[in-house]
Amino acid sequence: MKLTLEASTQRFINKFKKSAKITEEASKYIPGGYSRASVKVGPHPIFVERGEGASLFTVDGHELRDFHNNFSVNVLGHRHPKILEAIEQACKDGFSFGNPTKYEAKLAKLICDRVESIDKVVFTCSATEACMASVNLARGYTGKGKIAKLEGGYHGSGNDFFWSIHPDPLLHSGLATNPKPVPDTMGMPEALRGNTIVMPQNDLATCKRILTQNAKDIAALILELQTAAGGLITLDKAFVEGLREITRDLGIVLIFDETITLRMATGGMQSVFGVKPDLTVMGKAIGGGLPIGGVGGSEAILYLNETGQVFHSGTHHGHSVCCAAGAACLENLTQPAIDRINGFGERIKSELSKFTQENNYPVNLAGWGSCIGFEMLDQVGRKIRSCRDIMTFCDNNTRQIFNYELIIRGYMPMWQRGQVALSTSLTEADIDGFIATSKSIMNEMFD
Ligand SMILES: Cc1ncc(COP(=O)(O)O)c(C=O)c1O
Repeated sequence: MKLTLEASTQRFINKFKKSAKITEEASKYIPGGYSRASVKVGPHPIFVERGEGASLFTVDGHELRDFHNNFSVNVLGHRHPKILEAIEQACKDGFSFGNPTKYEAKLAKLICDRVESIDKVVFTCSATEACMASVNLARGYTGKGKIAKLEGGYHGSGNDFFWSIHPDPLLHSGLATNPKPVPDTMGMPEALRGNTIVMPQNDLATCKRILTQNAKDIAALILELQTAAGGLITLDKAFVEGLREITRDLGIVLIFDETITLRMATGGMQSVFGVKPDLTVMGKAIGGGLPIGGVGGSEAILYLNETGQVFHSGTHHGHSVCCAAGAACLENLTQPAIDRINGFGERIKSELSKFTQENNYPVNLAGWGSCIGFEMLDQVGRKIRSCRDIMTFCDNNTRQIFNYELIIRGYMPMWQRGQVALSTSLTEADIDGFIATSKSIMNEMFD
């Protein structure tokens, strides 16, 4: 019998009753019961008691193998002993100071040594703030005010960026070759709409035309080399190389938002592409599980922070415990460790691609390295090249059934996105299990 959304939802509800109860209780005090919209899984989130290595233990008494890792944060898995040790040591020193500590400089050196385009780096408490800081630097450096972003790009919830992350081609977003910014939430100031210029993914000719027409106003182009929140699209290398050349010619600061993709190589995904941005935004893994963000880049631009011409400060910027945890994480995230989990990702992708093709199932595998995902299609053979293609050709119902079934069978994927982010705590046996489970779910869905 084919799996249905109703039946899978019901099985999920039956399995996570305690999580549902806690959500209900918490929602007396927090709208909906939690402060982070993206943690919702079906009717409610799954409350977790603790994490250990590659496992999550839920309040409902279930163990889930973690293929989510807090949207890629936990690249070494949960409670890695070296990170725990670093946190304990930093905590013994104290929790909060109106002074910098050695931990911040340590993390900064590790980042500068790893990422070729980064001479200097400043920290924030989140990648959202780092994105905001990066465009402030670009505005200060160029004396221009607007920013350009790609449709489908997610750069946190700042007002400059919350446009066209999911631009529904049927609603107000214009043609792909002449896109219009559409807000992804209520509450976006209408006055800001003209300040953010949006462009299509993987269409260099259109991007060149838009950037050239608006060059005198655009301070920065910000992009993710591989998008996540807006749907999984890996940009073409030639497209990124082209944008590098165009932005250099037009005096536009090129910002790579590597909040997620920095984990793809010690030098970040930019080293895989062989393209150097002017600024890089970081977050997630560079905090080792604790909250952090960072902006790094050329000495010439970061100098504006040093002189104070572009003001950069925050109560918890460079927080000692977060920086200590981040440094421990990067020290243990060696290139061989990265190669191993990138290999896991490639294995899942190639084995399941072969399987879906042989069986003529409407599923593509997408992504690169340790961050990959499933595109559940409306019909076999679709080629997905942009977030607009995802919105036009992907089927939310089958994606939801697939995700429910993974969770019910003991795996935690990124719920709304149909994506996974692997950690070094996973083993070859976990990957075998995940592939086998994915195959049986697909057989039950499509046969
Ligand atoms: C590419 C990218 N940039 C920025 C952000 C915002 O990061 P934070 O949630 O730390 O503010 C995220 C978060 O998911 C992200 O994926």
